[in-house]
Amino acid sequence: MEKIAVIGTGLIGRAWAMVFARAGHEVALYDADPKALKTNLAVIRRALKDLRAAGIVKEAPDKIYKRIRAATSLDDALAGADYAQENVSETLVAKKTIFAAMDMLARPGTILASSTSTIPASSFTKALKGRSRCLVAHPVNPPHLVPLVELCPSPWTSKRVLARARALHESVGQVPITVKKEIQGFILNRLQAAVLNEALSLYADGYASAADIDKTVRDGLGLRWSFMGPFETIDLNAPGGLADYAARYGQVIYEQVCSQAPRRWKKDVVARLARERRAALPASDLARRQAWRDRRLMALAVHKREASRKV
Ligand SMILES: NC(=O)c1ccc[n+]([C@@H]2O[C@H](COP(=O)([O-])OP(=O)(O)OC[C@H]3O[C@@H](n4cnc5c(N)ncnc54)[C@H](O)[C@@H]3O)[C@@H](O)[C@H]2O)c1
Repeated sequence: MEKIAVIGTGLIGRAWAMVFARAGHEVALYDADPKALKTNLAVIRRALKDLRAAGIVKEAPDKIYKRIRAATSLDDALAGADYAQENVSETLVAKKTIFAAMDMLARPGTILASSTSTIPASSFTKALKGRSRCLVAHPVNPPHLVPLVELCPSPWTSKRVLARARALHESVGQVPITVKKEIQGFILNRLQAAVLNEALSLYADGYASAADIDKTVRDGLGLRWSFMGPFETIDLNAPGGLADYAARYGQVIYEQVCSQAPRRWKKDVVARLARERRAALPASDLARRQAWRDRRLMALAVHKREASRKV
């Protein structure tokens, strides 16, 4: 099994540690802040118990936990690592600094992947000697419950590195996709931004309440989206498949899109939206609701795993 280094142990780093450890890999976990490392090891310990209770892992949580070790330095974390997943702060300076250090310390065969949500790998790896072993592996929060990972190489990432990263993520149960060319927001956040932009416009222009827009996705679009994407959805929504759908609805979809435009997140609209949300869910209940969301995600993960066995 490949040895994994997880650098930065916030929300994302701690979840990656669980992804790799539950699949049998030895994981070295490092954070520049020793307090964060200690706190997140405790979070991991609890979360592994939840995963077992939900039926997502079969192995005893303590056995999985034992594969995760706290590294005392970046050098220590990278010692013997085959793959490093970086999860430090989301700034260009932070990414440049940590990648320069990782490239200097890691042995030549180690793949260096970043969890960055927004920064293309080319902007922080260009000057590195080992730039061909660097790429973005962008997860969805939290990656131990949501398996998609967007692999986005820079123009100089080697094909072999991309293939090895893809094989590793598949082997640990993640669902990798390849972003063929660098683009801001990769694929997932661009799709999410398009939906959010339209939701905001419909709300700002008074077409529906925030609650009703949320219901439209939760009890409408989202039901199909949890097991098929937009292209498969339309392929099944016309008797003759996708081409038939395009012939029937292509023009009207185009007309709707022509009336959609980028919207600024104006303060008064955000304040109104936030008031609606806080009336539905007081700020003091946010953490409880996040825990509820994670339990729902666990149940959905189990359901999807069972369902995919039957297909
Ligand atoms: N939170 C999300 O929803 C989400 C989703 C996908 C990707 N990401 C990406 O994952 C990365 C981490 O995000 P997060 O939400 O986990 O952040 P976070 O603030 O929860 O955690 C960052 C951690 O990195 C540590 N750190 C900072 N500098 C460091 C360094 N030089 N060396 C080692 N450790 C260092 C911090 O102490 C902290 O514990 C970011 O690039 C972010 O864009 C976040």
